[in-house]
Amino acid sequence: MKSIGLDTSGKMIVKGPQKAKGTLTVSGAKNAVLPIMGASLLTDDDIDLRNVPDLADVRTMIEILESAGKVIERFDDQLIIKSSGNINSEIPYEPVRKMRASFNVYGPLTLRNGYAKVALPGGCSIGARPVDFHLEGLKKLGIESTIEHGFVTSKLNNPNSFINISLPFPSVGATEHVLTTACLLEGVKTTITNCAIEPEVTDLVNFLNKMGAKITGGGTSILKIEGVKKLSGVKYTIIPDRIEAGTYIILGKLVGEKLTIKNVSAEHLNSLFSVFDNIGSPVDYDEKKREVKVAETLLNPLNSISMETAPFPGFPTDLQPQITTFLSLVPGRSTITETVFKSRFYHIDELNRMGAKIRVEDNTAIIEGVNKLSGAPVEATDLRAAAALLIAGLVAEGETIISNVDHIFRGYENIHEKLEQVGIELIYEK
Ligand code: UD1
Repeated sequence: MKSIGLDTSGKMIVKGPQKAKGTLTVSGAKNAVLPIMGASLLTDDDIDLRNVPDLADVRTMIEILESAGKVIERFDDQLIIKSSGNINSEIPYEPVRKMRASFNVYGPLTLRNGYAKVALPGGCSIGARPVDFHLEGLKKLGIESTIEHGFVTSKLNNPNSFINISLPFPSVGATEHVLTTACLLEGVKTTITNCAIEPEVTDLVNFLNKMGAKITGGGTSILKIEGVKKLSGVKYTIIPDRIEAGTYIILGKLVGEKLTIKNVSAEHLNSLFSVFDNIGSPVDYDEKKREVKVAETLLNPLNSISMETAPFPGFPTDLQPQITTFLSLVPGRSTITETVFKSRFYHIDELNRMGAKIRVEDNTAIIEGVNKLSGAPVEATDLRAAAALLIAGLVAEGETIISNVDHIFRGYENIHEKLEQVGIELIYEK
């Protein structure tokens, strides 16, 4: 297996059908660690993070923090973020282009340096992803933004003492960005309503409070923040990745043979568990051990279903492509309505190349279950599409070659090695 780069469009070759047997352990959550790393810019003290996955996105965030003046040390799953003594608040296009979450350093850098200049995140294959909610929220915090030549430049004005921000949609990124920035507005009381309540947002709230922030309402849609003058260094352990866990559960339901998935937070995956209840294949979860035992379920009588993605606690859009692969093999007609990223359907044409029968009407995928998929050359357009195609390749008959597969390393730590450990054979070519 060759080493993984950040910008190469590798290929994965999968010969199906295969069986997965053994234990898969879920890593720390990508979407929790990224905003937490961004929030390290609020202090000059050392931040000591544990359960940090080694992902392309984490490396991109390291690059951004280093360009902002941080010094990073990494030992296995531990990441120590230190200050070099200087803060540079101009972040170039290249890392922001790779990963939208990098934009969330804009507010914190503005507070630390009085101004910031950060590239605007570009378009994304899963649909339009603007940052208007971020900029409107930050404006209420006193951060004036000007957009020019693809960069956003800020100017810090004196904020009001009491600020109310109501988000038009419970955006994960906007909630995290505004929340993080508000923590360091000394003496200012900010209330954010219609917040995202994804577990990763709550992890960020817990982290910030441990640094000395004064936030109440964590885990609810109303967050109240009383800004403080200074935040301190902390040690903090990142929550397990619910999307990685969900992906492996779906994989296990298609190709598992005595597969155990460890480090699963079931309280973050109720929506997936109820989807499998409705399909007629409940998830076998051991609460004490926090593990799932899963085996192939296609030979059981299964029900087709109608479902939709929604902000937490609804079904995550980040599992929509993977569950689509599963439903493509469930007899009858299933439907999935995508309400978060309305055009997140680029994996559908690729699944159809593998014999699935799916059509898209507006923001709904209509899936007519087939009894098998067959291997084909396909292309991954984003991280979760890559995971969906890999699962499809494992259950399909014959060879599947997934091009642009490197997307997968943005969100799945050592996926090829983890899968090899449960008996899956994959060939990765850079
Ligand atoms: C985060 C997750 C991503 C997940 C998504 C939805 C991270 C690093 N990424 O992305 O994996 O798929 O939540 O759960 O945590 N929107 C606007 N204007 C804005 C911001 C968002 O219109 O300023 C819209 C988006 O286009 C989208 C919806 O709001 O339709 C939700 O986006 P958001 O929750 O912000 O997603 P991200 O934070 O980018």
